Parts: sequence; structure tokens; C-alpha cells
Amino acid sequence: MRVLSGIQSSGTLHLGNYFGAMKQHIELQYQHECFYFIANYHALTTVQDADRLRRLTLETAAGYLAAGLDPAKATLFRQSDVPEVTELAWILATVTGKGLLDRAHSFKDKTTKGIAPSMGLFCYPLLMAADILIYRSDCVPVGRDQVQHIEMAQDMAGYFNNTYKCNVLIRPEPRLGHAPVVPGIDGQKMSKSYGNHIEIFGDPSEARKRIMSIKTDSTPVEAPKDPDRCNAYTILKLLASESEAADWAGRYRAGGVGYGEVKKRIAELFGQAFDPMRQRRAELLAHPDRVETVLVAGASQARREAEITMRAVREVCGIPASSSME
Ligand code: ADP
Ligand code: TRP
Repeated sequence: MRVLSGIQSSGTLHLGNYFGAMKQHIELQYQHECFYFIANYHALTTVQDADRLRRLTLETAAGYLAAGLDPAKATLFRQSDVPEVTELAWILATVTGKGLLDRAHSFKDKTTKGIAPSMGLFCYPLLMAADILIYRSDCVPVGRDQVQHIEMAQDMAGYFNNTYKCNVLIRPEPRLGHAPVVPGIDGQKMSKSYGNHIEIFGDPSEARKRIMSIKTDSTPVEAPKDPDRCNAYTILKLLASESEAADWAGRYRAGGVGYGEVKKRIAELFGQAFDPMRQRRAELLAHPDRVETVLVAGASQARREAEITMRAVREVCGIPASSSME
């Protein structure tokens, strides 16, 4: 099975990215053929400062490697190092009705949050479908917010194959991990654009402050509580072992648990999980050439695969390959 996913280089990585996406990406590298990329073309919809985009792209790649992505097992690359993906996005645009894109939740969400409604933002799902289809991906591990985009990629593969009476594009399936929606400190979905996120590689004292400010209700300490309705417990459960989480759930139900105590434990577990990764990431950022070497090798593997698909796509559409690539 071929697995593919991407993360935009549009900001710092947070707990939602880690538990919703990256953790399953890393786990899957041991069983499947995996391609992961830094979506820097997608990031252009929000980051329009060259130095910042370059820095965020490097940091996102270093974050993946620090979190355990092994370049000997999975292919890690920059989206823009395979420019054919924009060619496929255009071809998909020609077989896709505008109505499909009008139904995208993410465009509405993002414009409501103040992101400029550019054509790039509107066409975001076309480029994402091209990302998925160009590598003939079977499985796309993501958080819940991305599922609609993968369903659109399924539709677009169907439109293309029907138009050209072929089976060139393969239908991908989304895959959700154990935490499809990680809540933020205010209880809404964690997202950097809501400002309710906990950065995993940021300043540890800032992360602690944010953990201590996780919104909880005003049930008194002695009162029994339902762990599954508590934001702090949901976050604790991501970080704690199964037995520890079960233990806390029992204590919630029995009464006598104070939220301050839960948050302190979250902060401890957070440090245990991310301090070593933060250190590995800092070492990588001190040697950016090491990250670059991984990305360059990944790009040549990814581009080979993309070319196989594009040869078939161009052939069925009647588009000759550019002579410089012959
Ligand atoms: P953000 O919403 O902060 O901009 P991205 O859109 O860059 O994050 O998301 C990158 C990956 O992380 C996607 O697969 C997305 O589904 C996942 N993800 C982001 N936030 C969450 C969350 N709160 N819970 C689960 N997964 C998430
Ligand atoms: N849209 C995804 C996000 O915001 C990033 C992404 C771009 C992606 N292309 C993709 C994810 C292809 C999976 C597959 O996180």
C-alpha cells in the first residue's frame, strides 16, 4: 500500500498536527511505502514572505525528522521540488465543476478567519488532489478537517478517468488516526489560526503557561466529573499511557480531582514527550544542510513516481511532454 500525506509550512507545529497527523505518519513508515511532503505551494496561500516561507519549510522538515520520520524508510520532500504537481492541478481543473469547489468547508472557514479569498485559496483542493493522485496514493492519513479534501480527490480521479475513458488515476482513501480532532485550550478544534494551540517545539515555559490555561468548567474538586466531557482529560489522554489515562478517568468519576492537578500532569507528560524531540530539532536546525540532503534525495524519488503518472496523464489528454524532458 502506498501512503501519502503533507503538512503545510505555514506556521509552527502544534499538538493537533502531531496527534492528528504526524504521529500516524511516523507509525505507518514501518509497514508501508510512505511519501510525506512539506506543502510549501499550499503555504503560499497564507505566507507571502520569501524568507519566512523558506524558514518555515526547513523547520517543518526538521520537525518531521525530529519526531521520528526515518528517511531510510519514508520519502520526505518539498512539494515544490515536483513542479509537475501544478501541471496536474491544472488538468484536474479542466474536468472538475466549479460547484465541487464551492462546497469546500475549508475555504469558508479560512475566509471567515480573515485569510484573503485568493483563487489559490479557492483552488486549494485541486492542488491537494493533484498531490495525492500524482503519486498514485492508496491511503492518505490526516486529521478530520482534511477528509472532505480527500473525498474531492476521489471525485476528481473519477471525473478524469470518465472524461478520458481510462483508469490512469487511482482512488485514494482517507485514514484517520486515534485523535482525528484534537481540542485546543479553549475546547474548539486546535488550530494555529484560532490561536488556541500548544506548540510542540516552541518555548517550553510558554507551552506550560498554555497548558495551565486549558479551559475547564467550574465543577468543585470534590464533585464527580465526566472525563469524556473534559477538555483537559482529552489532552491528557493523548499523552498518558493507557493505564494512567484509565486511572485518571476513574478518579474523575469518583470525585476529588482538581483541574490544576490534571494540568500539571499534562505539562510533565508534554515535557517528557517533546523535550527530546525539541533538542533533536535544534540540532538539525544548526545543520540545515543535513535536512536539505534528505529533502533533495526525497524529491528525486518522488519526482520519478510523479513522472510515471504524468506520462500516462499527458498521453490520454493529448498533451505532448515538454521536449526538455525527453
Ligand atoms: P492548522 O489547522 O493548524 O492550520 P494544518 O492545516 O497545517 O493545521 O494541518 C496539518 C495536518 O494536521 C492535517 O492533516 C490536519 O488534519 C492535522 N490537524 C491540524 N489540526 C488538527 C487538530 N486539531 N486535530 C487533529 N488533526 C489536526
Ligand atoms: N491541506 C493539508 C493541510 O492543511 C496539507 C496537504 C496538502 C495535504 N496536500 C496534501 C495533506 C495532500 C494530505 C495530502 O494540512
